[in-house]
Amino acid sequence: MKSKEKTINRTLSVAPMLDWTDRHYRYFARLMSSETLLYTEMVTTGAIIHGKGDYLAYNVEEHPLALQLGGSDPAALAICTKKAFERGYDEVNLNIGCPSDRVQSGQFGACLMADPKLVAECVSQMKQVADIPVTVKTRIGIDEQDSYAFLTEFVDTVKDAGCDTFIIHARKAWLNGLSPKENREIPPLDYSRVHQLKQDYPQLNMSINGGIKTLEDAKLQLDKVDGVMIGREAYQNPYLLAEVDQKLCGLDKPVLSRDHILEMLLPYIEQHVQQGGRLNHITRHIIGLYQGEMGSRVWRRYLSENAHKAGAGVDVILKAREQMDRIT
Ligand SMILES: Cc1cc2nc3c(=O)[nH]c(=O)nc-3n(C[C@H](O)[C@H](O)[C@H](O)COP(=O)(O)O)c2cc1C
Repeated sequence: MKSKEKTINRTLSVAPMLDWTDRHYRYFARLMSSETLLYTEMVTTGAIIHGKGDYLAYNVEEHPLALQLGGSDPAALAICTKKAFERGYDEVNLNIGCPSDRVQSGQFGACLMADPKLVAECVSQMKQVADIPVTVKTRIGIDEQDSYAFLTEFVDTVKDAGCDTFIIHARKAWLNGLSPKENREIPPLDYSRVHQLKQDYPQLNMSINGGIKTLEDAKLQLDKVDGVMIGREAYQNPYLLAEVDQKLCGLDKPVLSRDHILEMLLPYIEQHVQQGGRLNHITRHIIGLYQGEMGSRVWRRYLSENAHKAGAGVDVILKAREQMDRIT
């Protein structure tokens, strides 16, 4: 039997991705799917507590929205979770999957898989201060510690602290010697391990992550787990999200065209530029909108060559779209 989160639909989510899933991307993604759960980029507790900027800012349209935190100090994580709750986030997720050196030196991310008791303490303190789900995103193992028993010990310890939702990136991480990018490609995917975990912990909500590129594949996964998290493909080929509500969530509503989505995004871009924002801060996220369509290369090239220029505005986008039509 699958467990069911009462308020959050976890059927499909877009993975937290540093530098990619910022608030502009998320606003754009939300235009395509009302049901997809969106995650912020990882934000460290240090940035939130000591940083100068507002690291928790988002647009209200982005709900349902989860904040991903990076950290390992239970008290600091609790402070940030409370802030996130007060700011209206729907979930707080703890990153136990990132293998970068910078992250390891801060003693958080994937290396924390080796210290499940500390993760449990973090979760426990986070849960005490906020009435929203506290979830964990992790890998299936680290370095030589990649047995199923190692994974279940981690899950057992963290679930006992009150975490009932896990997102599992179905590959292990090598903490030394591989870059974060390599760690998303080289260790082999092992979906069966995540399926086994769901079978052994039917009461927990389990989402699977890693290498899933189509809604058809997501649908197959949903026979075995509660949710699917898609990362790179949802960024590079964002129009994938336009059919999530219908194909995966059973909603009876029309699928919006790419042009329609672009049209809906224009007022947001206009406002951003009027407030002094750079056009390319948004266009970099929509460069893949027409992927696979005739003229998509022209669209890409025009935006890459023009959107960063001083004073560039919505007209650059209209021109890029117009150029596509010219070659078709
Ligand atoms: C550019 C980039 C940045 C990422 N940043 C994060 C992050 O901040 N937090 C995190 O948990 N995972 C991060 N990841 C990993 C993704 O969340 C995801 O686990 C991974 O890409 C595998 O899923 P995919 O094969 O669907 O892309 C990042 C991935 C990419 C490509």
